[in-house]
Amino acid sequence: MNEREQRTDEEDEPPMVEMRGVCLDFENKPVLRQLNLSVRRKQRMVIMGQSGAGKSTLLRLILGILRPTAGGVYFQGRNIEHASRRQLNNARARMAMVFQSSALISSMTVHDNLALPLQELTHKRRAQIHRTVEEKLSMVGMEETGALMPEELSGGMRKRVAIARALVMEPELILFDEPTTGLDPVLSAVIDELIIDLTEKTHATSIIVTHELKSAFRVATRIAMLFQGRIIEESLPEGFRGSHNPVVEQFIEGRTEGPIHNGS
Ligand SMILES: Nc1ncnc2c1ncn2[C@@H]1O[C@H](COP(=O)(O)OP(=O)(O)OP(=O)(O)O)[C@@H](O)[C@H]1O
Ligand SMILES: [Mg+2]
Repeated sequence: MNEREQRTDEEDEPPMVEMRGVCLDFENKPVLRQLNLSVRRKQRMVIMGQSGAGKSTLLRLILGILRPTAGGVYFQGRNIEHASRRQLNNARARMAMVFQSSALISSMTVHDNLALPLQELTHKRRAQIHRTVEEKLSMVGMEETGALMPEELSGGMRKRVAIARALVMEPELILFDEPTTGLDPVLSAVIDELIIDLTEKTHATSIIVTHELKSAFRVATRIAMLFQGRIIEESLPEGFRGSHNPVVEQFIEGRTEGPIHNGS
């Protein structure tokens, strides 16, 4: 297939995720206001924004854990809010989330943490589950750690295991909430490379929330900036870097003067 045919193909299908006019209030406090965002298949969309901007909230809306106060969230062209329980479960089985805290179950071995979704959500047999777990652990360079408990792992190892766990159901969409926050610069680079490598190998689409500029520019195929409840800029990384939007400029340069105020 030549490049032009491929592009037409991808433009014909609905976006992997689309948010249209999404508003979300928490106890009458608006967090998202008329937010629009479209994420196409195989993109690695980085969402940037200051602390408290609503980035994690945005991911929870896509997962269907939260419902918008107004507007619609679409997964592969279908409005999540109008989905039946079965359709929602079906959609959720095609998404995975890597939580900032890694969220491994502390009383279970690494192997059992990965096996759990397969036991609960599939009809795979024990031997098959074991093979899948081993395969995903080896994809993140963590083979032979299956018998360890989460507390025996370093922060970086835990992050890898959390990523491996996200892969076990072979998701089409992976959501990463601050995957490199709290890691040293070398480990951050390793995790970023892993995200790029794995999403390319598995043809997954990803949405990566971060406020680390270095990571953002390393992994993104597109970058979006969330500010005052809206996506105020969405572009290729080069376009983002050269943006004249004062909010983006201030964020990139880390200036204290400008439209972004602490706590606003
Ligand atoms: N369950 C909730 N109930 C009430 N308010 C909430 C709830 N969850 C989030 N908020 C509020 O919504 C706003 C956005 O929170 P969110 O966690 O999405 O921000 P964030 O951009 O992910 O921040 P950070 O970078 O610090 O993780 C914050 O003001 C927060 O206090
Ligand atoms: Mg957050």
